[in-house]
Amino acid sequence: YVLGVDLGTSAVKVLLVSKEGHVVDEVSKDYPLYHDQPGYSEQDPGDWVKQTKAALKELTARVDDPSQIKGMSFSGQMHGLVLLGKDKKPLRRAILWNDTRTTKECREIEEKVGIETLHQQTKNPALEGFTLPKILWVKHNEPDIYAQADVFLLPKDYVRFQLAGDLSMDYSDAAGTLLLNVSEKTWSNEMCEKTGVDLSLCPTLVGSYDETGTVLPAVAEETGLSADCKVFAGGADNACGAIGAGILEDGLTLSSTGTSGVVLSFEETGDKDFQGQVHYFNHGDPTAYYTMGVTLAAGYSLSWFKDTFAKDISFNELVAEAGASTVGAKGLLYTPYIVGERTPYPDSLIRASFIGAHASHTRGDFARAVIEGITFSLNESVHIFREKGKTVNKVVASGGGAKSDLWLQIQADVFEAEVVTLSNEQGPGMGAAILAAVGSGWFSDLKTCAKAFVTYDKSYYPIEENKQAYQELFSLYQQIYPQTK
Ligand code: XUL
Repeated sequence: YVLGVDLGTSAVKVLLVSKEGHVVDEVSKDYPLYHDQPGYSEQDPGDWVKQTKAALKELTARVDDPSQIKGMSFSGQMHGLVLLGKDKKPLRRAILWNDTRTTKECREIEEKVGIETLHQQTKNPALEGFTLPKILWVKHNEPDIYAQADVFLLPKDYVRFQLAGDLSMDYSDAAGTLLLNVSEKTWSNEMCEKTGVDLSLCPTLVGSYDETGTVLPAVAEETGLSADCKVFAGGADNACGAIGAGILEDGLTLSSTGTSGVVLSFEETGDKDFQGQVHYFNHGDPTAYYTMGVTLAAGYSLSWFKDTFAKDISFNELVAEAGASTVGAKGLLYTPYIVGERTPYPDSLIRASFIGAHASHTRGDFARAVIEGITFSLNESVHIFREKGKTVNKVVASGGGAKSDLWLQIQADVFEAEVVTLSNEQGPGMGAAILAAVGSGWFSDLKTCAKAFVTYDKSYYPIEENKQAYQELFSLYQQIYPQTK
């Protein structure tokens, strides 16, 4: 067996996976989020460790022979800042990816580094969620804490440090710090110097399936794992989501609709220039990259709509009402900016709109407009990928958007691509398990392992008539942002 540990924002989920790629068992444990002030989002790193250990203990207790668990790896919520002092203890709570206190620091980075250098070095825009703005925030607002800082880690790296004792960070996660030279895979001296961050705060860089040690004896005792169990570095949750969905060759794209939505595409090289319009990160595959766009309120738009206007019916009933409407929701358009937007408009202040409401519109038309609007927002990223010369002809759908035939068909029609579902969707935890399986030497590379572990189910193809209708609607949709801004 191997273990895939998915350290999420609300919970840690541990998957026990067999050599054949079957998920044999799983345990999930949650932990609190702290929002002490508007825009603040923090977690206690100690909670992650405590709950991960508790999950491991529960899982090993159910395995006949825990020494058969040969390796483990991690998928982690990205960007979260864990600052450690000389004694390697956290100096404060972690500041998470969805914390938005750092707008000032983002502008400071752009000013000090210059947009061109920023994109050339980091391949990404300066966003509130990323790590460097958080480091600068601590430096400005908590100078005493900053003065004690010895090294910074990302969430899953801190958990791995506690389990195996190594201080390191993998490239796919480091790519989300704004301190990595993404194409050269080294810490960026220039980013550090220009923003005044000491390079010595940056930990050792490792590959996602590099072995970083074995489980510490005390941890083995506490969790029931064998002290021989190998620990592999792991990757960013989006990189692991890509691996777990088999996004390991050119032409493959992932659309994932959780609370937020992600469209992510495999990139063979790190030398393209997307001018920061989409995220451009290192993949868990050591030679590859991926580009990614984010819709902040994807599933969240639909659950907001249901909670506000359709409390009396189930999700399936609401989707059935949307299905009874027609392509284009009878002239109603929705932009999903209820909490701002990220791609292609990094704008936390823009708000959503329904355009074209008519007295004959029903709740089903509105629900359909919401589903279509979310899909249009995801399509903005597909559109950018294609504008830069990428082929997007096959999209693997996951999350809420993959649970409805209607939404899957809308994705195929809007993306103008084949859309496939996974037969046993496990998300980033499966990506982490694949990293552990390859690290353990069971497979020569990620692609070979994913071929064995990841299987696809149904395919949806664009319907010509719908495709054409959506093309027109999408260009209308694209005019809403500039005109409502
Ligand atoms: C990616 C991002 C989120 C987090 C969620 O840029 O901010 O997807 O990784 O864990």
